Amino acid sequence: MTDKSPSIKDARLLIVDDDEDMRNLLVKWFEAEGASPTTARDGRQALERLDQERPDLVITDLVMNGMDGLKLLSEIHRRDPIMPVIMVSGQAGVADAMKAAHLGVSAFLTKPLERSELLDALKEALDNSGVRRATQSDGFASKIVYQSKLMADLLDRARLVSSVDSTVLISGNTGTGKELLARAIHEGSRRRDEDFVSVNCSAIPEQLLESELFGHEKGSFSGAANRHDGLFRAAGGGTMFLDEIGDMPLALQSKLLRVLQDFEVRPVGSTKSFPVDVRVVSATHRDLARAVEDGEFREDLYYRLSVVPLHMPALDERREDINPIADHLLSSLCKRLKLSQRMLAPEAKKLLMSAPWPGNVRQLGNVVEQCAVLSSGEIITAEMVKTALSQRPGEIMPLDDAKKNFEREYLISVLRITGGQVSNAARLAGRNRTDFYKLLTKHELDAAGFRGSQ
Ligand SMILES: Nc1ncnc2c1ncn2[C@@H]1O[C@H](COP(=O)(O)OP(=O)(O)OP(=O)(O)O)[C@@H](O)[C@H]1O
Ligand SMILES: [Mg+2]
Repeated sequence: MTDKSPSIKDARLLIVDDDEDMRNLLVKWFEAEGASPTTARDGRQALERLDQERPDLVITDLVMNGMDGLKLLSEIHRRDPIMPVIMVSGQAGVADAMKAAHLGVSAFLTKPLERSELLDALKEALDNSGVRRATQSDGFASKIVYQSKLMADLLDRARLVSSVDSTVLISGNTGTGKELLARAIHEGSRRRDEDFVSVNCSAIPEQLLESELFGHEKGSFSGAANRHDGLFRAAGGGTMFLDEIGDMPLALQSKLLRVLQDFEVRPVGSTKSFPVDVRVVSATHRDLARAVEDGEFREDLYYRLSVVPLHMPALDERREDINPIADHLLSSLCKRLKLSQRMLAPEAKKLLMSAPWPGNVRQLGNVVEQCAVLSSGEIITAEMVKTALSQRPGEIMPLDDAKKNFEREYLISVLRITGGQVSNAARLAGRNRTDFYKLLTKHELDAAGFRGSQ
């Protein structure tokens, strides 16, 4: 351990409460433990203190005049996503506790406060922050290969947020590894044994996307012959990955915002809402702040989704990662294709290091794959790398591949929505059964696998 977690005695604590008696009581308790906490009487003052000196932990009241505890929590995490915050509430409703959990609170306690309960929560939050800060080799993100400081720092932040329920927005260019990072965050979280449900918001037409996400009632639109629970409910307990969130249509953005505010979904055509318990991680290759300015993305949703923003750097901003990743991709590829192990010649490595990588890691994977498959011997030469590099037009995938990907995603969503009922799915897609079956065969999809998925 490099950075031991502070004990209560050494911890810099900030207490935020608009009730002076409460502040004094907490100060007394902590002083008895040997600590010297600072206090703030409201959210605004707390943020001023935070800007001056970084405490180790914040304890805040929920209901306060001006800025309430939830708003303060998100403001704190906007400044420092990993600051442990304990929230105390007099009138705790389940909804507030859920919201606080999603905003990444370390503990949520109700008044009247028990001294021992508070001290236990404090100790646990401090221990967690210290331990998480210090462990470098805990297997987190073990599938992500890197050597750069840029990635090390990013993964440190990701590791810390994986253990809380805060929403995470991953930005970065195409092929940089956004989805890989989203999965690592899921696997590093307490939700790891539940599902990681991934939806590509740009590949599915608006009406289908709505019902795919939030579900629908039987007969709510033509083709909806059965009810469908929707992925938010299916992901219960797990993580929902909203890929290409920047492409979500505005009308759906408002509906998504409501879900994130209330932690409930209302299926299309239903009058009833259902509670959902998911952690939302989203990704985009677009500049969302810009999309907000241009009126294409809701500002309130942007803030909801990006409690913790993480940016995946482009491969050419971290050139020291190129060769470790290339070696890794090469050896796993050879295993997968049952080829004898191949190696990159030193000159080939130099070439990889200096090449432009507009398609990032995905493009690197393509180049490596092409070289591995075409090479007859065990050494991949610079010449082969050069050829492979010149044949890949950057990040653009061939139109046929793009069409094929779209068609497959589309079929999957239609099958999910209809629970694998081929005749309904075919109707929804505007195809006859025979054609639809042909499409399923082409994409090696089995309708039966979608039965019971509703
Ligand atoms: N650091 C890394 N180490 C090993 N493999 C990686 C790394 N980064 C990315 N990859 C691999 O590169 C490919 C592209 O990554 P991924 O799909 O996560 O990118 P993305 O940012 O989601 O791309 P897109 O914007 O196109 O959706 C995947 O096969 C992934 O496993
Ligand atoms: Mg992706």
